[in-house]
Amino acid sequence: MNVHSKPNDLSAFWMPFTANRQFKKAPRLFVAAKDMHYVTNDGRKVLDGTAGLWCVNAGHCRPKIADAVARQAATLDYAGTFQMGHDKAFEAASCLVNIAPKGFDHVFFTNSGSESVETALKMAIAYHRAKGNASKVRLIGRERGYHGVNFGGTSVGGISNNRKMFGTLLGGIDHLRHTHDLTRNAFSRGQPAHGAELADDLERLVALHDASTIAACIVEPVACSTGVLIPPKGYLERLAAICAKHDILLIFDEVITAFGRLGAPFGTDYFGVTPDIITTAKGITNGVVPFGAVFVTNKVFDAFMQGPEDAIDFFHGYTYSGHPMAAAACIAAIDTYQEEGLLTRATELAPYWEERLHALKGLPHVIDLRNIGLIGAIEVEPIPGQPGKRAYDLFVKAFESGLLIRQTGDIIALSPPLIISTDQIDQLFDTMSNVLKAV
Ligand SMILES: Cc1ncc(COP(=O)(O)O)c(C=O)c1O
Repeated sequence: MNVHSKPNDLSAFWMPFTANRQFKKAPRLFVAAKDMHYVTNDGRKVLDGTAGLWCVNAGHCRPKIADAVARQAATLDYAGTFQMGHDKAFEAASCLVNIAPKGFDHVFFTNSGSESVETALKMAIAYHRAKGNASKVRLIGRERGYHGVNFGGTSVGGISNNRKMFGTLLGGIDHLRHTHDLTRNAFSRGQPAHGAELADDLERLVALHDASTIAACIVEPVACSTGVLIPPKGYLERLAAICAKHDILLIFDEVITAFGRLGAPFGTDYFGVTPDIITTAKGITNGVVPFGAVFVTNKVFDAFMQGPEDAIDFFHGYTYSGHPMAAAACIAAIDTYQEEGLLTRATELAPYWEERLHALKGLPHVIDLRNIGLIGAIEVEPIPGQPGKRAYDLFVKAFESGLLIRQTGDIIALSPPLIISTDQIDQLFDTMSNVLKAV
């Protein structure tokens, strides 16, 4: 039997986070990509306004990364990392800790953002147990947070559509309120002025559950997938102080904000607030091979290194933790970011980006514009009774006009590769302006 007998049949692939039946009636398909552009199956060039899914930070099909992956596949295709190892995993770990915020000298490898989150949550509980505080097991997330799709991440996550199909999820979880407040903060440039006090929700949860039961609090420094919620000035500082006061580990989920998105290597650097654990993925290989890394402070790492030397210190890991091809892609991606100054380039582009984004104010249906680093969001007034429809129509129209954007609810998120030129920023916002006028 020829397994390739139906090359143009779209039915077999059950696509994730997709309205499958709608999509397959009018599919949007890419066949190639280079630098800032995708190429569609009908030969059109589409400007990538979203760095793939927030991951292609250096642009597409970079030869250095592609060559490194091809060489690795032909040299050492697979070796595990349980009680054995290989050179590329150790080299990738060293590269990563060299660019990590100070004090994060160890990384644990995963294959995705979701796995990084699960790893971090388990690590936090196991950390307290190792310290003799076995009752510290509760996990605190935040409304509208996105931490991937596995059970732990879905449970600490706070997007109701991602939760409601899946029963009661994990027990022992609570949530802070989100920080989105258009009444006080609409059309903010950078961090909004109002809302630092929302971090005090953690004190309320401590009063309710008692600190002796709480292991960790996980937040995205900028909550991107829910539609770009930027932390109010002072909010992260306050959250970190409350965590430190109650011996609650603070986890920054930097799956999007790491690797230059805000104009600093990590969000931790950008905000000047230091958590205990940082989760990453996506840009770690420029999106080329699935990979993730959990960065830990020495405080956390050392707690696991106290038992007998011949005892396994963390009963956790994946067949593909530190996969040779992912590690090779990671090393080449970090080299590329460093050679081209991409870990800080968003700082140079941010003022122009901000001006062009906020020039959309006053266009039909626009109720908010917000930005930080090389991230922008356009929030539009929902069509009554049809939440998400207006932004979906914008997404389809933009795609037809040669621009890829990301729609979530009635919010459009923009996050192009960090190699974007100012001319391409102009093209992106000119297209958005035309599309907003047309929908
Ligand atoms: C903050 C955050 N955490 C976790 C994830 C999940 O990553 P993945 O889709 O690689 O599992 C994402 C994905 O968008 C994310 O933005």
